[in-house]
Amino acid sequence: MPSTQQAVLDRIEPVADGVVALTLRGSLAPWEPGAHIDVSLPNWLTRQYSLCGDPAERDHHRIAVRHERLSRGGSDYIHRYLRPGRTLDISLPRNNFPLVEAEDYLFLAGGIGITAILPMLRHVLANGSSAHLVYTGRARATMPFTDEIRSLCGDAATLIDRQRDPRPDLNALGATLKSGTAVYCCGPASMLAAAEAAFDPARLHTERFRPARKTFAPNTAFTVLCARSGRSVEVPADESLLDALTHAGHPVPSGCREGVCGSCAVRVLDGDPEHRDDIGGNQGEIYTCVSRSRSPHLVIDL
Ligand code: FES
Repeated sequence: MPSTQQAVLDRIEPVADGVVALTLRGSLAPWEPGAHIDVSLPNWLTRQYSLCGDPAERDHHRIAVRHERLSRGGSDYIHRYLRPGRTLDISLPRNNFPLVEAEDYLFLAGGIGITAILPMLRHVLANGSSAHLVYTGRARATMPFTDEIRSLCGDAATLIDRQRDPRPDLNALGATLKSGTAVYCCGPASMLAAAEAAFDPARLHTERFRPARKTFAPNTAFTVLCARSGRSVEVPADESLLDALTHAGHPVPSGCREGVCGSCAVRVLDGDPEHRDDIGGNQGEIYTCVSRSRSPHLVIDL
């Protein structure tokens, strides 16, 4: 099964100050709320964007992109140069932020983090669950999809304009949650840290755009055995597993190269991987862009 698909950029339109929504048309793979795609841009950069449309609409994907002040080239290219009619390679949808069944949901979205939350909100309300959204933005004009959110959930949405309103009190929200409430949070690092401090980790689900700050023991070299080819690859201390595999002729698809998107996953068959990603749930997989090995040898399914 191919890991990429093609889509034509049908529309690109402003949806808030500094934010454009892109409609990508094609015969596209199915997806579920929380999923994202890698978009390969004509300037050779690959960027990840949450799907913010309706999974029932199979002939197009919708994503939204904020023009980042400190753009590393992705959002700047999209805002300044990308125009309708262009064919883009996009990955199959990948979901590191799946919805769990719950009778009640609290959604916390900061800024462009609303893109991951919006399809979840639509889905749970359509299925008869109760939900409350707290959506925070730098200023009201910079917050996309506010009209859609109001018509979707009315007073069940609290929109917070940080120019006028105080930060949401997550500790107070945490103290009043029902026992069956699942909490989903997508937004800047400060919001994720506040959510992690306020909510029981057993009920909190998060998605990061950028890796959390962490420290690790110094890198050590290790050997990886690619089980299918039978080849051994040395991974020096100053090289990532992803790069070592690529240089040895075993390229692995990659996107963020920061341990947040999941595109570089390979299955681990033996050994003791040291997971350094921000995705979690590493059931038998390793994200080769950041993770390493505690054991001198690792066997992977490649
Ligand atoms: S490339 Fe994104 S997690 Fe490795």
